[in-house]
Amino acid sequence: MRIERLTGFVGARVAGVDLKAELSGDAREALLEALSAHQMLVFPGQHLDLAAQKRVTALFGDPMQLPYVEPLPEDREVIAVLKEATETNVGVFGGDWHSDFSFLPNPPAGSVLNAVEIPAVGGDTLWASQVAAYESLPKGLRAIVDGRKAVHVGAPYGVAHAPPEDSRSGASIRMTRGDPSADEERFHPAVVTDPRSGRRALFVNPIYTTRLDGMDHAESAPILAELFHHATRPDICCRLKWQAGELCVWDNRMSLHYATNDYDGTRRLLYRTTWSGEPPA
Ligand code: SIN
Repeated sequence: MRIERLTGFVGARVAGVDLKAELSGDAREALLEALSAHQMLVFPGQHLDLAAQKRVTALFGDPMQLPYVEPLPEDREVIAVLKEATETNVGVFGGDWHSDFSFLPNPPAGSVLNAVEIPAVGGDTLWASQVAAYESLPKGLRAIVDGRKAVHVGAPYGVAHAPPEDSRSGASIRMTRGDPSADEERFHPAVVTDPRSGRRALFVNPIYTTRLDGMDHAESAPILAELFHHATRPDICCRLKWQAGELCVWDNRMSLHYATNDYDGTRRLLYRTTWSGEPPA
């Protein structure tokens, strides 16, 4: 197994491993260690079917089903991240900086994307290291977030913070919208610790974090704007130009990601699975 970093802060390419084969305990341990070190791993040339993708997901944690997004009928723990060539001038699933479903009481610890059909140009995904974000946080902001909780709500699926119609993803991703219970506030620490490395990461979410605990929306807004800006600076990001057959896994506690929407007129299909872990702590 060869692990090469993609940038100074986040992402690594893993070569010399066949994810269709059963991995030894040592190989699994090396992958868990690599994910902790790099927050995102990409495995080129895998071309996995869904059963193999589920097996890989289970190396990291128990696969889980997510609410609000319609899964595949044949496997409710898999969603198709699909935009058809005919879906133009619409938003795209994941097209804002976020970690997955942080508004849940126990959000998915990590996610997997399996690239099936990729545009010749565009459709890249970006990740931002929240370890680097925390470690480079100006003192004043660090004093605000240390020991504080942030409030997360399922904004796109609720009523109070529902996004405008034209920013929503196209018909290929079917979602439940307008559910008032998605507006329920959930509190997670604004700084979390990776249990393996002991490193700390900023844990706020530009889509789902609506305010900081102990502050109302108005007081939180300028602080959150600064945090989101700091957390997504290009200096702490990597950008993956996908190849069909690649499989990518990432840590949702330690990174944010962003799907670019620059490939109208071309079909893009990836299968996504997620795994559960300990609640953010
Ligand atoms: C996601 O947010 O999981 C989707 C990312 C992508 O389509 O690149």
